[in-house]
Amino acid sequence: MKSEILALLRERADYVSGQELCERFKVSRTAVWKAINQLKKEGYRIEAVQNKGYLLAKEEEVFGQHELESRMQTAWAGKPVTFYDTIDSTNLRAKLEAESGAGHGTLIVADMQTSGRGRRGRSWNSPAGTNVYFTLLLKPEFAPDKASMLTLVMALAVAEGIRVTTGIDTGIKWPNDIVADGRKVCGILTEMSVEQDYIHYVVIGVGINAGKQEFAPEIAATAADLEEICGNKIPRATLVAEIMKAFEKYYALFLQNLDLSGLLEAYNAVCVNCGKEVRVLDPKGEYVAFAKGIDPAGELLVETADGNIQAIYAGEVSVRGIYGYV
Ligand code: BTN
Repeated sequence: MKSEILALLRERADYVSGQELCERFKVSRTAVWKAINQLKKEGYRIEAVQNKGYLLAKEEEVFGQHELESRMQTAWAGKPVTFYDTIDSTNLRAKLEAESGAGHGTLIVADMQTSGRGRRGRSWNSPAGTNVYFTLLLKPEFAPDKASMLTLVMALAVAEGIRVTTGIDTGIKWPNDIVADGRKVCGILTEMSVEQDYIHYVVIGVGINAGKQEFAPEIAATAADLEEICGNKIPRATLVAEIMKAFEKYYALFLQNLDLSGLLEAYNAVCVNCGKEVRVLDPKGEYVAFAKGIDPAGELLVETADGNIQAIYAGEVSVRGIYGYV
């Protein structure tokens, strides 16, 4: 009920009487009063005036359970959502939840991770109070070979969520790094549990550099945060909710053909490597090629100097710009 009260107070932007809250949520005045007090304890400034009711002061978001619940506008993605102040890794938590029966669309969000995980076995620095770390659990009914495309679906959703929330136009460095001003602002780590031709679950973990921060020397040249780019504090709960909304939309398009054909135009329009020369880091030998765009399977189509077109698969090969990261 606290999240619903919060949503109502925010939407009304005026006093809402205790009576109205009691009637709306079919609870006693004491229950409303208790809920309001708990919200205050969490950091919300709610003014209570006799004969008028309750008024929520317009302030920065409180990044937490009720803020997230009250902002979620989806049918299934991000429902339910569970927020942790501190957790080892949202991906690990989502996997545990999946094993114990959590459903498609469950979302785990944290303010801080003690063992944040990145791709290729790296760690993901996850300090408190500034960034966004979340993992969406999916239990899809399609074959495992389709699942790698979900990372690209999430990349598109993140780019859209960032644009809607902050006004920043980000790009996607194929397959799934989100970049702004040529530097990485978000990484995505997709993991899954599969048995022969059956997916038990997929977890898609997203880490976004939201607030101002100092990056470790080894990534300082290639990483950026959203606050530094747009000059404003990032409303983190709104950002998560907007990403879930965009994910739900793009996932529905993906399901239509079980490929990215319905998303090609949107993806290629924001793909920062597409239409450029790239260095293909193939374990069998690096080479330079011209990146044309992705195909419906999410592979990057590159044209080599001899005019051959090759489809490169993200699991095995990564690409860099000729002169640097992008
Ligand atoms: C990358 O290396 O680019 C992927 C980074 C993914 C980090 C996110 S943060 C939320 C989720 N939980 C994790 O432990 N990792 C992912």
